[in-house]
Amino acid sequence: MEAVTDLPFRTVCEELGAALTFTEFLSAEALTRGAAKALGRMWPSLGGRRFAVQIFGREPHALARAAAMAVDVGASIVDINMGCPAKKVTAGACGSALMREPELAAALVATVRAAVPSHIPVTVKHRAGWDESSLNAAEFARSLVGAGAAMITVHGRTRAQGFSGSARLEPIASVRAALPRDIPVVGNGDVKDVAAYQRMKRETGCDAVMIGRGSMGNPWLFRTLAALERGEIDPGPPALGERRAVWRRHAQLVCEHSPEKMRLHELRKTLAWYSRGLRGGAILRQQGFTVADPRAVLDLGEAFFAGLEAAGDVTLVVDPADPIAKSVARNGRRDGTRVEAQERSEARGDDRGEAPCAA
Ligand SMILES: Cc1cc2nc3c(=O)[nH]c(=O)nc-3n(C[C@H](O)[C@H](O)[C@H](O)COP(=O)(O)O)c2cc1C
Repeated sequence: MEAVTDLPFRTVCEELGAALTFTEFLSAEALTRGAAKALGRMWPSLGGRRFAVQIFGREPHALARAAAMAVDVGASIVDINMGCPAKKVTAGACGSALMREPELAAALVATVRAAVPSHIPVTVKHRAGWDESSLNAAEFARSLVGAGAAMITVHGRTRAQGFSGSARLEPIASVRAALPRDIPVVGNGDVKDVAAYQRMKRETGCDAVMIGRGSMGNPWLFRTLAALERGEIDPGPPALGERRAVWRRHAQLVCEHSPEKMRLHELRKTLAWYSRGLRGGAILRQQGFTVADPRAVLDLGEAFFAGLEAAGDVTLVVDPADPIAKSVARNGRRDGTRVEAQERSEARGDDRGEAPCAA
């Protein structure tokens, strides 16, 4: 995910159980031009863990060269983005716009397939279709697989939907039904909790689930799902001390790996994510914008968590003034987690005077 799945974010998710992570989508043109920004985002995962590099474009030679570059940095998978709905991407007839040109899309897959060693899978992520009148996911996926794609990820929205409405499961199920059994299909869209994960698997028959927004600030979702997949008991949401430790780990990775000019922004974002749902989190996020150096953001975070620990707050407490936290709580309510903490908080009327989340 652009501006999300950098090395620090991916590392934290991997350490908590994500089976495979993908880089941000990277323009093949920019990579082959040697653009430092794009090259800098092709970070291999730490510890030799496998990872996918996602590229986008519509020019076969650029995609082929970008794919070879991805393999050179150690990518285990080269994924081609045919799902991005952003105007800046579709205006160049890339991303989801390729769903309107299935022949070209298949030719691009064949070119990339030929450009990388045979043990490196070439995979594609696409949407349900361009719009309601062209829901072509199943035929599209079939033709990509015919051209050499080894795995298909389907986001159950159309390009016209952007990120609005909800992701549908039928297009994902139709792709699963259309492809040979040995081609994994990954379902994607709106999975933010155990119930949505189980529904995605049950109703589409998909082989794996890709989680995007639901992991932002909640990498523990991977731990829960991995445990359930192994038949173990759900370890549940993190206690406060653990939340603090993972925030620290994430922040440390930002300090070590993020480009210097991005560090302040990334640290603010990280603190915003991990303070979400905690009492005083909304004020903390506002304070994050008043300080102008990375050390000060780290100090704010340490003081925030120390304050909660000193007050004996050892569980997640939903901040009623924080709209994001409310939505997290609603999702938790469905699978029975966090409800107790929220209800206790609401009963006490904690922090009702807080300003809404500024992040
Ligand atoms: C900020 C942001 C950046 C994204 N960047 C990418 C990207 O680079 N590549 C990609 O395949 N999808 C990208 N997506 C789409 C997500 O991967 C995913 O398909 C979509 O958000 C639906 O899944 P979710 O509900 O689990 O987030 C992005 C989404 C968001 C919100």
